[in-house]
Amino acid sequence: MFRPALAFFALTLSSAAWSADACSVVIHSTDQMTYDLKTIAVSESCKAFTVNLRHTGTLPRNIMGHNWVLTRRDDMKGVADDGAKAGEAADYIQPGDSRVLAHTRLIAGGETDSITFDTSVLKTGEAYEFFCSYPFHSSMMKGVLTFGG
Ligand code: CO
Repeated sequence: MFRPALAFFALTLSSAAWSADACSVVIHSTDQMTYDLKTIAVSESCKAFTVNLRHTGTLPRNIMGHNWVLTRRDDMKGVADDGAKAGEAADYIQPGDSRVLAHTRLIAGGETDSITFDTSVLKTGEAYEFFCSYPFHSSMMKGVLTFGG
């Protein structure tokens, strides 16, 4: 009796966490220079969307720092290049870069950061790129964010 009830509870919880209408997501990053998500689908019903970035590794941020940066697909390379020049103190994001639609802080192993952004920065049906702007990480740490029904 007890075991099936527990299983049902766990299933319900995980369904809720992955619901298409959830206006937030948790993304894990690692010492192996990876994200655990390649796609993030944002529902048009969300007025704001929250990204919770977790670094499950142990390395310091000057060695294996990670952030989460959102841009239009065509802007990704330029934002990453300019971010690399801006340096670690600037979280590898050029200060005032208007091509950056949203971003977290650059975090170290064991840390977390969250960003909530207004979905009015997104256009329906357009694809966006999310990535880590630490130099060279975006070759592995990137994915596609979509906005739509
Ligand atoms: Co990184």
